[in-house]
Amino acid sequence: MMPILVTGATGTVGRCVVRRLLDAGRSVRALTRDPAAARLPAGVEVVTGDFTDPSSLAPALRGVERVHLVSMEGDGPAIVDVLVQSGVRRLTHLGHNDPSRPDDDPLESWHRVFHRAIESSGMEWTHLFPAEFMANTREWAPSIRAGSEVRAPFGDWNSTMVHEDDIAAVIVKALLEDGHAGRTYQPSGPEPVRRRDAVRMIGEAIGRDVEFVELTPEQARDLWRDIYPPDVIGWFLEMGRYPDGNNWVSPDIEQVLGRPGLKFKQWAHDHAADFR
Ligand SMILES: NC(=O)c1ccc[n+]([C@@H]2O[C@H](COP(=O)([O-])OP(=O)(O)OC[C@H]3O[C@@H](n4cnc5c(N)ncnc54)[C@H](OP(=O)(O)O)[C@@H]3O)[C@@H](O)[C@H]2O)c1
Repeated sequence: MMPILVTGATGTVGRCVVRRLLDAGRSVRALTRDPAAARLPAGVEVVTGDFTDPSSLAPALRGVERVHLVSMEGDGPAIVDVLVQSGVRRLTHLGHNDPSRPDDDPLESWHRVFHRAIESSGMEWTHLFPAEFMANTREWAPSIRAGSEVRAPFGDWNSTMVHEDDIAAVIVKALLEDGHAGRTYQPSGPEPVRRRDAVRMIGEAIGRDVEFVELTPEQARDLWRDIYPPDVIGWFLEMGRYPDGNNWVSPDIEQVLGRPGLKFKQWAHDHAADFR
């Protein structure tokens, strides 16, 4: 059986894709920049490659027709070119798309060039542009473990965060089944969850009260100064401009998987060990 190449295999979504493909009895090849640190399951063929050097991907693509690609960095069209030249026929692509941002936004324009290269490649492509990941709340783990509190702005920010394993389940369907070519899925959770409620549910999952301490945007900027670059901090703080948050529920998970997406309560239960 031809192996399926999973890039981003050591990442939040990629690890779930690898596990689901193994569970489906498929042969999995996993790309990483550092095989020694990859900690992938037994039976996975681990290969080295780096998006910033597209030619380094060619050996990983030998004998492969189906690929899961995560867009992280590098020259998008050059990466797509290597995939096509290597004979890839089917591609799932996990990335990001924010149509509300202008074409001259540097980050958006990098993504859009990548998307166009994929769409004109001749491969059977499926884009996945998910909502915010539930897994992003893992950034609270150190302060919950140390002091049972989360200090963050915008406690009422409401977001249809999505469980990474639901994104992976859609990816695996699109890799293994026909009927997903040329589709763009935007997996989201089944309901919006406010920041302060997410903190409460993590507390319930670990059996401890966890306090949400609401910061002003200025206090958040000070807290994040040493952690994130200024443009990322600016992007986070822009949230405050949208009081209802990002509360659109996408129908895609239910349509593709035939069941609603997993709720944040489930995610908190699945990841309780990270917060204890
Ligand atoms: N977080 C969110 O809320 C959110 C929302 C919507 C969309 N997304 C999209 O989701 C994607 C991130 O997925 P994720 O969170 O599962 O990933 P992640 O946990 O951040 O892990 C990143 C993965 O990419 C690999 N990688 C990074 N740079 C690489 C390079 N130069 N060459 C080869 N591999 C490289 C890493 O592999 P090694 O370190 O092993 O090499 C790792 O497996 C991005 O495209 C992002 O835009 C995220």
